[in-house]
Amino acid sequence: MPPPFPTDPGLSKSQALLSRDRESVWHPYTQHQGADLFLPVASAKGAVLTDTADNTYLDMISSWWVNLHGHGCDAIAEAIGAQARRLDHVHFAGVTHEPAVRLAESLLERAELGAGKVFLSDNGSTAVEVALKIALQFWQNKGCPRSRILALEGGYHGDTVGAMSLGRSSGFFNAFESLLFSVETVAVPHTWLGHDPVSEEDRVLDGVRRMLAERGREFAALIVEPLVQGACGMRFHSERFLSALCALAHAFEIPVIFDEVMTGFYRLGTHFACLQTAFKPDMLCLSKGITGGVLPLGATVVRERFFEAFLGGSFATALAHGHSYTANPITCAAALASLELIGVPGFQERLAAVSSWLSAGVERLGADRRIVKGRVRGTIAAFELGGEDARYGAGSGRPLARFAQERGVIIRPLGNVVYLMPPYCVEERQVARAFEVISEWLARE
Ligand SMILES: Cc1ncc(COP(=O)(O)O)c(C=O)c1O
Repeated sequence: MPPPFPTDPGLSKSQALLSRDRESVWHPYTQHQGADLFLPVASAKGAVLTDTADNTYLDMISSWWVNLHGHGCDAIAEAIGAQARRLDHVHFAGVTHEPAVRLAESLLERAELGAGKVFLSDNGSTAVEVALKIALQFWQNKGCPRSRILALEGGYHGDTVGAMSLGRSSGFFNAFESLLFSVETVAVPHTWLGHDPVSEEDRVLDGVRRMLAERGREFAALIVEPLVQGACGMRFHSERFLSALCALAHAFEIPVIFDEVMTGFYRLGTHFACLQTAFKPDMLCLSKGITGGVLPLGATVVRERFFEAFLGGSFATALAHGHSYTANPITCAAALASLELIGVPGFQERLAAVSSWLSAGVERLGADRRIVKGRVRGTIAAFELGGEDARYGAGSGRPLARFAQERGVIIRPLGNVVYLMPPYCVEERQVARAFEVISEWLARE
């Protein structure tokens, strides 16, 4: 076994960790050549990360949008420990257990979609992959196969091959172009503070209506990131547009999948985005915040009629999907503990307070004419650096992120889009500090 840190008395713990990282680790979404030094994190509590040299940093992105209640949450840690001692893991075909059943029941109740089933997997990409496979096989099992998928332009749904295909128009996956199936996309009229693109929405909806009138019966599903498209730049669209688009899909019997991997678990102020829309989807994809951001878990929630279409006399109509860790009891216990915290008195008031601090910050920054398209929904605040390069990892994003990190604030702008998405436990002064650092950077530019 490799020795623990530090190993070389001449190196600090941070230096030793970074040097051994360089020798052995490949990081996600990273161009290693010319990359900034990685942040060697040693511990975390609440909204604060602490590095190996005891410097502290505000986690203003909830550790890639997963953390809800803050790091080091005792209730979740205790649930994990207790479950690990009781039943750590067991395969989930031909077997069941209490944490999985209680979690499925709880998700169904909270999603308010009526009777249905929950299929558990490991992460957001697999939650989407499962929904996609269910949609395609649903039509196959009914004896009228449909194979095309409709998605929102710029959408991101994960990094497995099906999910990459759905997110093809995001441009993230050009290297895998030859592998991806084609997906038809719908343009998304964006909204921000003071901008309500009603006529553009009507124009897009008219186009979709005409297209579906010709080819509607080819589509096996419509998939959307409801109300906020995350990875393509925290782009917001209106409830009016989303519900009208989904209603059009339903008019052609096209099942609608809400990918709520990012928007779920109160990120937008309600348990799920679908509780803010007049339209109710057929399937929900969940992950990220499902365990409070502590353990990896994916869930695909489907209405009963989809499950029923897989019943039959042989395995041929069953869903051929499963992972070694499907319904891992420890992750399910973490999710149940997190859901309990969501129900505590004062939870919604706290979210409203965080949202108002974010709104105040965006409004103040908006006075700077370089800041455009300010927007806040739930606990997501975003704005754009006008005139900047909008590509992922391009433009001012990196220098701003570096500047902020040096001052103890973690942000990861998406191209020219700067956003804050703190854990729900964040304090007013911490939000204010993040905006202060951004203002300092703007003042120097
Ligand atoms: C909307 C959406 N769907 C799916 C995914 C993929 O989730 P994961 O990274 O857990 O595979 C993400 C990740 O950011 C996402 O934002």
